[in-house]
Amino acid sequence: MIIRNQHDISQAVLSELERSSNPRFREIMSAAVRHLHDFVRETKLTEAEFQQACSYIATLGRLTNDSHNEVVLCAGSLGVSSLVCLINNGDGGRAETTANLLGPFWRPGSPHMANGESIVRSPTPGDPVLVRAWVKDRCGRPVADAEVDVWHASTEGYYESQDPAQADMNLRGTFTTDEKGGIRFRSIKPTGYPIPVNGPVGELLRAQGRHNMRPAHLHFLIFKPGFKTQFSQVYSGDDVNLETDVQFGVTQTLIGNYVRHEHESAPWPDVKGSWYSLDHTFVIEPGEAKLPRPPITGKTVGERPVLTILTNDFQAHGPRRNRSRT
Ligand SMILES: [Fe+2]
Repeated sequence: MIIRNQHDISQAVLSELERSSNPRFREIMSAAVRHLHDFVRETKLTEAEFQQACSYIATLGRLTNDSHNEVVLCAGSLGVSSLVCLINNGDGGRAETTANLLGPFWRPGSPHMANGESIVRSPTPGDPVLVRAWVKDRCGRPVADAEVDVWHASTEGYYESQDPAQADMNLRGTFTTDEKGGIRFRSIKPTGYPIPVNGPVGELLRAQGRHNMRPAHLHFLIFKPGFKTQFSQVYSGDDVNLETDVQFGVTQTLIGNYVRHEHESAPWPDVKGSWYSLDHTFVIEPGEAKLPRPPITGKTVGERPVLTILTNDFQAHGPRRNRSRT
């Protein structure tokens, strides 16, 4: 088709898409083209802005490697990851769900462990915590023999995949639910952490005056044949950033309640002082058991990265202040 003017462009591209024999591909790409072209028209995108957008997307890819996924980080920072989760879980978005976004730090292949074991594999500061989680179906029946992969960041703000100082697979492990649908493990009580802002996601947040903190959380991935594989996170109810999660992940169902035990003996002989416990229940739905495409597959090498914390302009009541820590 010879393009006569701007109005011919959209029709020309949509006509070409009609050639595809894959109906779902046609549906998705036709909608994407319609929305993209409308977006360009609505914003009257300039040539310089278009070049900037292309450069931004190219940088997202360039910064993505085995141990870091800038693309997934960006999807989360725009709320897309949470939106996809909420329309695909909870009976197709019609009911409450314990599902949550997967995030960019799930790493497959964490060691299989017995219930009660610790996932702390190298010295890691933090308060000891006993986590007990149960997996149930939608009728409230326990789901036994489900594989539950758990992972979380250190209190210094790094997943082990980001941090050469931590042992391989530190704060990661895979447990199998018992006949009551339960798993339990020992770890350290997580704290919030800043997402990396040395790339395009940092530009996005700075342009909005947003902070880059995630509230403290534990990640879970529940796999059981006959059920839709569920990714989830349980957030700490005492975290100051619950309402401003940079990845828009916090739902009411997933706010956990850590109980502090001051005078009760810990379940481990090496813990003499206070400790915490956390109990949480997940409800999984019938569906396909399928592991997600791993956002990362390995561990970083070299220097420990510098963490940068951005302050939310609104919270700061003044000019944005940034600080760095190592
Ligand atoms: Fe996380």
